[in-house]
Formats: sequence, C-alpha cells, structure tokens
Amino acid sequence: MAKYIIEQSGPLVGEVEISGSKNAVLPILAATVMANGICEINDAPNLKDVNVMCDILRSIGAKVEENWYSHTITVDSRNINSSELPYNLVKKMRASIFVMGPLLARMGKATIALPGGCAIGDRPIDLHTKGLKTLGARVIIDEGLVNASADRLKGALVYLDFPSVGATENIMMAASVAEGVTTIENAAEEPEIVDLASFLNKMGAKIKGAGTDTIRIEGVHNLLGARHSVIPDRIETATFMIGAAITRGDVLIKNSVPDHVRPIIAKLMEAGAVVNDEVDGLRVRGDVNRLVATDIKTLPYPGFPTDAQAMFMAFLATVDGTSHVIETVFENRFMHAAELCKMGANIRVDNRIATIPGNKEDLHGTSVISTDLRAGAALVLAGLVASGKTEVTNIYHIERGYENLVDKFRTLGAKIERVDD
Ligand code: UD1
Repeated sequence: MAKYIIEQSGPLVGEVEISGSKNAVLPILAATVMANGICEINDAPNLKDVNVMCDILRSIGAKVEENWYSHTITVDSRNINSSELPYNLVKKMRASIFVMGPLLARMGKATIALPGGCAIGDRPIDLHTKGLKTLGARVIIDEGLVNASADRLKGALVYLDFPSVGATENIMMAASVAEGVTTIENAAEEPEIVDLASFLNKMGAKIKGAGTDTIRIEGVHNLLGARHSVIPDRIETATFMIGAAITRGDVLIKNSVPDHVRPIIAKLMEAGAVVNDEVDGLRVRGDVNRLVATDIKTLPYPGFPTDAQAMFMAFLATVDGTSHVIETVFENRFMHAAELCKMGANIRVDNRIATIPGNKEDLHGTSVISTDLRAGAALVLAGLVASGKTEVTNIYHIERGYENLVDKFRTLGAKIERVDD
C-alpha cells in the first residue's frame, strides 16, 4: 500500500495552479447521460473518482474518452442502453448516486446498488429519493438496491429539509426534462450547483436561480450535447491557502476564484494571515509575527465549508491560543482529531465541538492514518510543520480528490514523497 513520507519543511513558497473541481465535474459527467449528442468537458481533474464516474458511464453504454494530456473528457451518450449501475463501481464512490436522476429521466428507470446495502439504510439518500418521488417517480429500496421508475417525470414544488448538495443536483438534473415547472426550495447554493446548472443550460435546459435557495426549472423535451469548462476546485484552493498559512509561507494560488473561498479568506485573516486578491491569483502569507486562535463553524455554502474543516483544524493546532471548531453538516467528521493527537496536538472532541489548544512546537512526526479524503489532507499539512518524519497511510482516500498533490507541494518546497510499501 502506498503512503506519504513527509519531513518537517520550511515555509511553502512559490506558485501553484489549482485543478478543476472534483465536486463539479462528477455531477456534470452524470448529467451527460441525458444528452442526445456528444459532450466535451474541459479542465477536468485526473482523479480516481473521476475515472470511476467515466467507468460508470461506460458500463451503461456511453462512449467515454479521457484525454489527460488536455484534461478533456468526451462523452457520447447516444447509445446508452442500460438502466442498471454495477455494484462493483457504485461501491467505490458515493457520488454514483448522481446518476440516478439523469438515468431515470433518460431511461424511465434506474437501478443503483447502495454501497453497504441495508446496513446503511435509505437515510443518507432520503432527500434525493423524496425529491424524485415528488416529481412522480416510484422509488423502492430493497435489499441494498434503489429502484426508481417513472414514465415521464412531472414538475413540482420540492422543499428540501436540508440544503443537500447532492439532492439539489439530482433533482435539478431530473427536473430539466420533466413535464412543466419544478421549483426547489431550500436548495443548496454551492458554486458546484451553479456550474452544473450552467452546463445543463448549455445542453438546452431552462434553469434559473442556481446559486440561491430557490431554483426554478422549466422542463424541456430534449437535451443536446454541449461543451463546458469546469470551475476551479475551491477545496483544493483552500488546502493550499491553509498550507501557506500553517507553514508561515508565501504562496500565490493561481486559477482560483476568490468569491468561492470567502470564508477561508475571512478566517485566515482573522487568525492574522495576509490574503491578497492579486491579478494572477490569491496570495496567502503566513510569514507574520503572530497567528492567533480563531473559531469556525461549518455550514452549507456560503458558510465555512465542512470539506475544509479538517485542514483548518490542523492549522489551528499551530497558532497561539485555544480555538473551537463546530461541525454542523456531518455528524461524525472529527476522525482527523485523533490522528492529530497522535502527532502531539491536544484536541478535545465533545460531540460536534472540538477544542484545539494551539502550539506549533507540540507537533511531532509519527505514523498516522488518512481516515477520509480531507482528514488525509489535514495530516499532510500537519506533517509539513511537525518535527521529524510523518508517515501518512491509506492515501488512496487523498488521491480520490487531489490531482498531483505530491508534485504541487514539492514545487512549493515541501519535503514529501510517495512510497510504495
Ligand atoms: C457534497 C460533496 C461533499 C461535501 C458535502 C457538503 C460532492 C461529490 N460531495 O456531498 O464533498 O462534504 O456536499 O458540502 O459534491 N443528507 C441526508 N439525506 C440525504 C442527503 C444528505 O440526511 O438524502 C445529509 C448528509 O448525511 C449530511 C448533510 O445532509 O449530513 C449534507 O450532505 P450533502 O450536502 O448531501 O452532501 P453530498 O452531496 O453527499
């Protein structure tokens, strides 16, 4: 199993180019299922999750070409002939659920295995299924399989109990070809939703309001192929911003959209870092006299992103004073805290609140486990400032979501290498 070996590095200095957004490209690829034509997706990141999504599309009959030299994916969906997603692919990625709405709209039915089957139950996708049912679909969950069917979906008012990103995307895609008008209330407002709506509109959909809490979709009969460039990854942007701050470095982050990382900018500045919106990108400087404790609370966009919480916690473990992190989006998203404690941090977790007494000198290298994608990124950042050598295992989680992570960090002066056991 591959792992990262990280040695205490000096300040990160230089420039880094951000890749296309993982969370934008996945639903966009799912949406190509509805195209009566060829779609060309540019600025796609070369990631395991993206490769899996391409395989899922192939498994139902689409012709997919991944050109990683140009970061372009071409999908010809004209010959899609199956409404069943194979379990061996679905179990690899929760985002496979994005294909449910488009497949249902295209084929009149969709069968998708739930990773983990009955043990997980239907709760984590209840908002997806509830929304599709409101559009007139029959949805049955039986023995770990979700079976959805509908002759033609009908526009309706869908109120989401929570602004779920995935549910908003699934419902928006299916509603694009439903009969009549759909309104999604309490919709998620993430930039990835706006990017998906922009792609769907290029395909011929009629969507207004994406990026606000009310999205109006006027159903059309047919969607065509389209060409689209994916937005930059705001969580990768956040990772390098925090990387600059935690190492007390000076990094210019190119191909970033400052508007998409406002909470990260605000919180880094509150902690004392310097962030400047320059012509070529965002410059983050942590080479200041003193960085101080700051509290964060994760929330749906435009609040502080839960996906940046782990990395920010690693940073807070290195500043002066005691900080608090409140996680409101996911129930169990503090697994990195225990790993950071193995490195000498003194983090206390009480339900959804973590208390972090910061002290950079406390952190020392050891062997830690990347329990999930962003937890892994947090451990990499901590490893850059911890004394001695840090070994991060289970890095397949990290590689699901970061393109060329090792090369990008090394360009900035980090001492990190990937080794195969
Ligand atoms: C997406 C992102 C993920 C990010 C998350 C929140 C992708 C591929 N992934 O995940 O990186 O962390 O948004 O910003 O875009 N929930 C339900 N029932 C549902 C759906 C969700 O209870 O049917 C709950 C979840 O358990 C969670 C919360 O709602 O507690 C937010 O989940 P959601 O916004 O749906 O996240 P994802 O779309 O899965």
